[in-house]
Amino acid sequence: MPNETRHILVTSALPYANGSLHLGHLVEYIQTDIWVRFQKMQGHQTIYVCADDAHGTPIMLRAQNEGISPEELIARTDREHRADFADFGIGFDNYHSTHSAENRELANTIYLRLKEGGYIHSRKIKQAYDPEKHMFLPDRFIKGECPRCGAGDQYGDNCEVCGATYSPTELKNPVSAISGATPVEKESEHYFFDLGAFENMLKEWTSGEHIQPQIAHKLNEWFDAGLRDWDISRDAPYFGFEIPDAPGKYFYVWLDAPIGYMASFKNYCDRQGLDFNAWWGKESNYELYHFIGKDIAYFHTLFWPAMLYGSGFRTPTAVFCHGFLTVNGQKMSKSRGTFITARTYLDHLNPEYLRYYFAAKLGNGIDDLDLNLEDFQLRVNADLVGKVVNIASRCAGFIYKRFSGRLSDKCAETALYRQFADASDRIARLYDGREFGHAIREIMTLADHANQYIDAKKPWVLAKQEGKEEEVQAVCSVGLNLFRVLITYLKPVLPRMAEEAEAFLNIEPLDWPAVQTPLTAHTINKFKPLMTRVEKEKLEAILEASKQNLQTRSSGQAGGKKEVSKMEPIAEQIEFDDFAKIDLRIARIIKAEQVKGADKLLQLTLDLGGETRNVFAGIKSAYQPEDLEGKLTVMVANLKPRKMRFGVSEGMVLAAGPGGKDLWILEPDEGAQPGMRVK
Ligand code: 2FM
Ligand code: ZN
Repeated sequence: MPNETRHILVTSALPYANGSLHLGHLVEYIQTDIWVRFQKMQGHQTIYVCADDAHGTPIMLRAQNEGISPEELIARTDREHRADFADFGIGFDNYHSTHSAENRELANTIYLRLKEGGYIHSRKIKQAYDPEKHMFLPDRFIKGECPRCGAGDQYGDNCEVCGATYSPTELKNPVSAISGATPVEKESEHYFFDLGAFENMLKEWTSGEHIQPQIAHKLNEWFDAGLRDWDISRDAPYFGFEIPDAPGKYFYVWLDAPIGYMASFKNYCDRQGLDFNAWWGKESNYELYHFIGKDIAYFHTLFWPAMLYGSGFRTPTAVFCHGFLTVNGQKMSKSRGTFITARTYLDHLNPEYLRYYFAAKLGNGIDDLDLNLEDFQLRVNADLVGKVVNIASRCAGFIYKRFSGRLSDKCAETALYRQFADASDRIARLYDGREFGHAIREIMTLADHANQYIDAKKPWVLAKQEGKEEEVQAVCSVGLNLFRVLITYLKPVLPRMAEEAEAFLNIEPLDWPAVQTPLTAHTINKFKPLMTRVEKEKLEAILEASKQNLQTRSSGQAGGKKEVSKMEPIAEQIEFDDFAKIDLRIARIIKAEQVKGADKLLQLTLDLGGETRNVFAGIKSAYQPEDLEGKLTVMVANLKPRKMRFGVSEGMVLAAGPGGKDLWILEPDEGAQPGMRVK
């Protein structure tokens, strides 16, 4: 590794301020935190900043829905996020908010400079408007009947039943998802950022070392499709920053979100007396890295570098994308209990288990990462408890009891020790290149060697033999020195365990060069178990708690959230007589099958107690067919048969939830019988 000090600014994507963090988010924060801790251990000046992403329609509506101000909502989420991050050992140097004075000032500066440069244009556009709520409606806030299959209650941009995508103006009988009113078309002035003007600059930037090859591939598709103007304004009411020279117009949340990276850093500079311009000025040769989810690459590899360049700031050194998290091979699912919030995990398990498991599976690409719970348990137990901690626990007792904690005066196995110390550069290169899984494999191979050494020397046998005292001390001192090297290599991943190991070894905080010199003639403290085994019961308790937790506020995958509000308005009131017409019956799902060509649909065969019905239900995102068979559900039994693209649907299954994976069919208590009427 080069020895000169680097100056490195690192960010992770800013989580929205209206949802709890979950394990999907943590892939990114853990990945970034490991990288940052590694760079700090190298002695590089490394600053890791983040913030809550506090603006936008969903946050405004959520606050309204809860009867609080957006400021109160974002303050509450800020506290929750900070606590979750701290407990997972995510060591931000600064955590701020996009709703901050620094961000307002920087957003204004960037906007005004872009405008001066001729990169901002305004023009009138027509959009759907809610005449009752007096606001323009983002696509996801308009519902209606699918123009293709006729399914009702579909969002303004795609149909959950047949998978069609369309524009909200094509929806039949559209209604505002906020008030239920019929939207009207209304014209308003919008501000656009001329992304196309940066095509050459972006082509050059993206052909360098700034992005991963898989993302470069995607970018070529975007270039081929043409770079379109980007609408950076939203009309009032909106929770965000008002555009300085356009009263009643606000910056779109995605305009000021990445500027939030700069704002958080500015806030840090002001408190630490650092020179902001040395890091963000056009001529800066310091390094700037953004860790993000692959789904927000467009914002970070096109809009963001163009905005920075066009306003006279430096562009990022690199944008590092990662994939999504699956649990047990599938998308996280509330009904399966695998939609696990950070807090639910923390309530049951040591965060460093997860840090280790993610590290062991992370590479530098954009592949999805699977958290297989059985593998998680086996791996953590085998590697950390069975291999690493085991080395110390096999040696520490002898040294502490027989030699008053004193290690031998010299390292008895110089060749073996050198082999461990010499791995330092190789492992450093892997960490630096974000090949954490590979680094972990190297470290665990060394841990195997250390255990083999102790197995071969058998200090517990020597300890019973006359005149072998010195050898016992020598062997156990070697063992503890090898342990110390392993802990150093694992420290970016397991900072807390490393801290406890440092306390036990009675040493200063370990840094990377420390491994070159073994610890000799040194007194250690009493050993306490550094990590206990992952218990199956705890994992089961997490799944159970997550199932109970169905109401948990949540956002999408790390970095991958659309502007979607979970709030559903109460629809127009109906007469009791209308309600009484609905014949709800218990039905048993006797068969559930995939529907060829349908993205969202399952075909269910329902037994109504003597009669079977064929029903197409848009619940594929939440259920595996095999999980449904044999279950009871509630159906609307007297709905007129409807002809759909894939066949005739003879009724409707009731489901609750905002959609996607958050959808639950009702499963009545035992004792319910098919055909029974639900009253
Ligand atoms: O997708 C998201 O979760 C956004 N809140 C990420 C913003 S990252 C940055 F641009 F601010
Ligand atoms: Zn449809």
